[in-house]
Amino acid sequence: MGILLFTGKGGVGKTTVAAMTAIKSSSLGYKTLIISTDPAHSLSDSFQFQFGAEPTKVSEKLYGMEVNVEHELKKHWDVIKDYLLLFFKSQGIEDVIAEELAILPGFDEVASLLNLLEYYEKGIYDVIILDCAPTGETLRLLSVPEVAKWYMNRFFGIEKKLIKIVKPIAEPLIKIPLPSEEIMDRIQEMYVKISKLKDLLESEEAMVRIVMNPEKMVVKESERAFTYLNLFGYTVDCVIVNKVFPPNAGDFFSDWIKMQELYINQIRESFPVPIIFIPFQRSEIVGEKLYELAEKVFDFDPTKRLISEKPMKIEKDGDSLLLKIRAPFLRREDIEIYRRGNELIVVAGQWKRTIFLPQALALKETVGASFNNNEIQIRFR
Ligand SMILES: Nc1ncnc2c1ncn2[C@@H]1O[C@H](COP(=O)(O)OP(=O)(O)O)[C@@H](O)[C@H]1O
Ligand SMILES: [Mg+2]
Repeated sequence: MGILLFTGKGGVGKTTVAAMTAIKSSSLGYKTLIISTDPAHSLSDSFQFQFGAEPTKVSEKLYGMEVNVEHELKKHWDVIKDYLLLFFKSQGIEDVIAEELAILPGFDEVASLLNLLEYYEKGIYDVIILDCAPTGETLRLLSVPEVAKWYMNRFFGIEKKLIKIVKPIAEPLIKIPLPSEEIMDRIQEMYVKISKLKDLLESEEAMVRIVMNPEKMVVKESERAFTYLNLFGYTVDCVIVNKVFPPNAGDFFSDWIKMQELYINQIRESFPVPIIFIPFQRSEIVGEKLYELAEKVFDFDPTKRLISEKPMKIEKDGDSLLLKIRAPFLRREDIEIYRRGNELIVVAGQWKRTIFLPQALALKETVGASFNNNEIQIRFR
């Protein structure tokens, strides 16, 4: 099974590229599902086809869905929503407003990832493609599983027991409804799901593709995304440079072409993964055009991983083990590493990752670390 996540700055062409990948995937005979988070329904616009909130059949092998928050809340989250409403009511917030508050920020993205997991576990599709939200948000979201895992390991067992004891005593005093056992169970279920998601997204089956345009701001943001994704254990197996002006674009575009060349060179030098270029088209890429371009751009199987390296690996080196983490676009002075029991904390620039060490490493001492060739190496003995 292949899982492909498309991310990148707004407007660069994520939906278009994700849709083309889905088309090619299905034409190669893979049963394909494309999931979109975008509340603006750009997937329907792109295909010129009306998708629903559940997988909608486009053709024999191609299905798509547009995640709808209200639909998701009804389907999976009724209990938690009811609790939130109760909670807000106890705080004197009106019903209608509470209804809105219950739609938490980032919920749509969580919902689409949970859909990804659901359809992955059902095993009915060969390829699942996720058209994610713009870079910043997706990245924030992708680190959630890490945080969730941490909470799970630390608090969960304890907190649930505690609430059970405290609830009857505390509730009348503090005038805030404490979650019932059913709600706690549902929350715990969600943590388990998120933890599974994390494992899935880190697995051999999943790959992330960053879509960008050859422009200063976009390249910068893509570099940050690339660093972050690697650091958190997601494999970015290629980057897609979209909207490249053809050399014969005309006089008006001559400066644009020169500028794009500059950034294309920079991209070539700095991203250590395959690069796919897509030229700027004469018109919007919707409907038939989407199908035509999909065949042109993907003269190979786009559902297969394009690199074999992993963002994180463990190697034997003499009498010690080396944990190697890919960390491109970082400087040595940006990196700090701490060990706490069986956790390793890597702080890199603005990001912090807590790595739960596998047994083989957890039993050993951390004896040193170094940074070369865009790789953090941590020695265990
Ligand atoms: N290579 C291209 N040439 C011309 N127009 C493009 C190209 N790629 C995308 N577009 C157009 O740009 C707009 C934004 O693309 P979209 O895929 O919706 O971006 P995103 O999902 O990243 O916000 C759409 O109107 C799309 O048709
Ligand atoms: Mg989009």
